[in-house]
Amino acid sequence: MEKITVDLGSRSYPVWIGSGILEEIGRYLSGEEVCVVTDPTVEARFGGAVLGSIERAGKKGRLIVVPEGERSKDFSRLMEVYDALVSFGADRSTELVALGGGVIGDLGGFSAATFMRGIPLVQVPTTLLSQVDSSVGGKTAVNHPRGKNLIGVFYQPRLVFIDIDTLSSLPQGEFLSGLAEVIKYGIVLGEDLFYLLEQKRDLILKRDRPSLTAIVSRSVEIKADVVAKDEREAGLRSVLNFGHTLGHAIENLVGYGAIRHGEAVAKGMAMSTLISERMGLISEGDKKRIMGLLAAYGYDLVLPAFSRQEYAAAIAADKKAVGDEINFVLTGGIGRFILKKISVLDILDFIEH
Ligand SMILES: NC(=O)c1ccc[n+]([C@@H]2O[C@H](COP(=O)([O-])OP(=O)(O)OC[C@H]3O[C@@H](n4cnc5c(N)ncnc54)[C@H](O)[C@@H]3O)[C@@H](O)[C@H]2O)c1
Ligand SMILES: [Zn+2]
Repeated sequence: MEKITVDLGSRSYPVWIGSGILEEIGRYLSGEEVCVVTDPTVEARFGGAVLGSIERAGKKGRLIVVPEGERSKDFSRLMEVYDALVSFGADRSTELVALGGGVIGDLGGFSAATFMRGIPLVQVPTTLLSQVDSSVGGKTAVNHPRGKNLIGVFYQPRLVFIDIDTLSSLPQGEFLSGLAEVIKYGIVLGEDLFYLLEQKRDLILKRDRPSLTAIVSRSVEIKADVVAKDEREAGLRSVLNFGHTLGHAIENLVGYGAIRHGEAVAKGMAMSTLISERMGLISEGDKKRIMGLLAAYGYDLVLPAFSRQEYAAAIAADKKAVGDEINFVLTGGIGRFILKKISVLDILDFIEH
């Protein structure tokens, strides 16, 4: 088992990563009583292993199951989680385990952050996206009818527990969606990770465990380092939005749910790479490697056909918009990022080329 520490002073916490470790989770929990928030698919696969482990550790385990999918990040589901916590007689020593993908992590995390002004939270992510991204860094949120993740708080978990083996049952679309975030880390912060993704493509796509362990560990290391330096996204953490300004615009234009997040981000990363090259920030060789890697993993890099005005409106609607200038993340070569304020009009000109 590997341990990566998210260094946040007195709020530092470990991320444990290993293969076949889920049955060990009980020993890592501190509460006498543990409420496990999960969804039906995840419960069916891993609920028994987690509850069994909690009981073997001499603790009382309870399940709180909410329907799967993005729609569960809303106030009525949040209230159901609070209701269950109240009816179980939960108090401030009760530990909440979020077992599932990013939806469960965000909903469970927000519940833990707010119930009795905060109870201990443990993230047990079971999708690639949640393992490399959402479980680390303490962002929690639910959606508002007018916008995604509008209601949330920063609340760091006490620990993150990643069993790579859970990825073997993940549908291919979900796997590739999460992999886009891994590629993102490689492009802007991890030349070694990018190289690993190039070299081990076939093994990664076959979900070879050692290869997956390597890319998840390296991604978590990169994310942990960024979070330790800029927990609240005052600066550096925003580089993790590489490909996301355009990705969010695309999700917005085609309609949420019509395209997976990672598929939209892959298109956004391709476009941001082309913009970086045209601005003279990266060599043609690096551009080719980045575009080649995205294509090699099978991402469709074509931008959906919408008018200039529609793209402009969708980009401006993104919360990072400041006037008509926005903070944009570019790449300065593989493993390097460049943050630049550029106008939405400039981006549109590039999109049209
Ligand atoms: N907090 C953050 O920093 C952060 C960062 C990125 C994304 N997010 C959020 O994460 C959410 C998306 O997360 P996601 O992509 O993990 O989606 P998800 O949580 O909806 O999970 C996707 C699907 O996979 C199923 N599933 C989960 N684990 C499985 C497994 N091991 N085997 C088979 N099926 C499994 C789930 O039941 C679900 O149907 C979004 O709401 C997004 O806003 C948060
Ligand atoms: Zn993302």
